[in-house]
Order: sequence, then C-alpha cells, then structure tokens
Amino acid sequence: MDHFITIADTPTEELEHVLDVAARLRVDRNSGQTNNPVLAGKSLAMLFEKPSLRTRVSFEQAVYELGGHAVHLLQQEIGIGKRESAADIAQVLSGMVHGIMARVFEHAKLEQMAEAGSVPVINALSDDSHPCQALADIMTMRDEFGHDLSGRTLAYVGDGNNVAKSLAWMCGKLGLRFVIAAPDGYKLPDTLLETIREGCRGADVDQIDDPHQAVRDADAIYTDTFVSMGQEDEKQQRLTVFADYQVNQTLLDAAPDHVIVLHCLPAYRGVEITADVIDGPSSRVFPQAHNRLHGQKGLLAVLMGGC
Ligand code: CP
Ligand code: NVA
Repeated sequence: MDHFITIADTPTEELEHVLDVAARLRVDRNSGQTNNPVLAGKSLAMLFEKPSLRTRVSFEQAVYELGGHAVHLLQQEIGIGKRESAADIAQVLSGMVHGIMARVFEHAKLEQMAEAGSVPVINALSDDSHPCQALADIMTMRDEFGHDLSGRTLAYVGDGNNVAKSLAWMCGKLGLRFVIAAPDGYKLPDTLLETIREGCRGADVDQIDDPHQAVRDADAIYTDTFVSMGQEDEKQQRLTVFADYQVNQTLLDAAPDHVIVLHCLPAYRGVEITADVIDGPSSRVFPQAHNRLHGQKGLLAVLMGGC
C-alpha cells in the first residue's frame, strides 16, 4: 500500500492488515505499554483546508505515540491550490517529511499530491470520502460483535455523503450488508453501488427511501450531519429535505434490541440525532471517536513504519 486515499483503492487484505495492527497497538497501549517507536526520526505533515477536532488530535497523538513528529499546517498558511499547487506542495514536502495527510475540499488534490510526491498520502477527509473514519467504524463494530462482521448489517440513515461512501466500500470489502436510507437527490450514485457490487464479490449494498425499513435488521445504525463542511449555503434546504431522517427513539424501536448507534461526529443534537439516543445505552459514538486514534496508529505503522 503506497497511499491511503480511498477504501475503494485499498486492497481488502491491506485493510485487514491495518485493522489487525491497529488492534494490536491498542491492546499494548491499554495494558500500559508504550508502542514500539516505529516512526522514530520520521515526520508527518498534516494539511487542513477544513476544521477538525478528532482527525487533527488523533493523528498528532498517533504520530507521537509511535515515536514520530507531526507538523500541523492550516490552509491560511499554505494555501493549497491558491498560494501554490497541490503537486508543488507534495514535491516540496516529500524532501522534508515521510508522509502527508490532508483534509481537502476537492478530492483531486489528494490524487495530485500522490502523483507528484514520493511519500505516502493519507486522505483525512475530502468532499468525496473519509476512509480513516471507516477504519475506526469497523473497529467499533468489531468491539461489539467480534472480528467476523460478515453478514452484519450497517444501516446508514441520512446524507449519501463522503462518510457514507467510504462506509459502503468498507462494508462491500469486508462482507457487511450496507443499506442507506436517504431522500431522492441525496442518495449515493447508483453507479457507485454497482461498482461496489462488481468489485467486491458477494457485496450486499443497497439504498432505499424509508429509514424504518433500513434499520429493521440492523446491527448498527449510522448517521452523520445533514450539512457537511462546505455545504453551509444549503443548510435550510437540507434541514427540510432530511426532516424525516432523524435517528431518534422511534427509529431505534424499529430496530433489533441489540442495535448500536454510530456517528462520526461532530453531531448536531436534535437535528440528525436526538440527545437521548446519542447519550443513551445504544450509543457507541465516543468509543468510536477514540478508535480514530487506534485505527490511524495502525495505518501509520503500516504506511510509514514498515509494519
Ligand atoms: N469525524 C471527524 O473526522 O471529526 P473531525 O472533523 O473533528 O476531525
Ligand atoms: N460529512 C461530514 C463529516 C465530518 C467529519 C463533513 O464532511 O463535514
């Protein structure tokens, strides 16, 4: 694996390897051991065009715990595509650091960096996808249901966005059933689901209108904001369109008793999810957020640490 830009482009065995390394590193950490400093002497440049709490802190801490150094760069400092091109930035950084992670609007900038640079490029969220989030999401489901998730159902309720797209691919690759309930105009492209079915043998990925139907056999219900970063101008329209797609107790009542609730965060209580659900007994959103640290440690150890 040279880069981590999409789940689609990452072979299933590499995803499994990253998840295994992540789980091992987490066991060591939780038993009080320090992890082997596999990033000693190495640096990761972290480029952000958009705000972040979880991604920024979990990556910085992950690099620190693996013995490396993180350099945090904001868009107002470096101006990706404004002050200089993504390709030039990647060529410069490749002579100074050992990896680049970037949170960008246009997904193409990540591809341009990977093409022009000579160090691993990690997608820390683009308008297209959020693959690091999907690593933590699978870790959280494994924590609940065991290592083999094949045949489990992840029901995603809400916007067919970057997070949904990475999850659909992850489920297709690892053998989970993925169903998204979204209103027309906000579903995933049908061609994407077709590509997943073609690319992942036996993939069971589907999309429907009705959230209650989607969660009927769900092991996990997942939602995300209805208004992603960069869509603020569409806020009023989106809140209207998604009014019937809230994850609330009535929706949970339509799901099996053992269902868990996931959300990548940040959450807007009372909008896409109610406070009683996100703070209630079915919610796993905070362990899920903590797994961002562990998932990305696995990723960095494999991509940059030779594990
Ligand atoms: N889930 C997630 O990526 O959170 P941040 O936007 O805070 O990094
Ligand atoms: N879909 C959201 C995810 C935030 C982590 C966004 O892109 O803003």
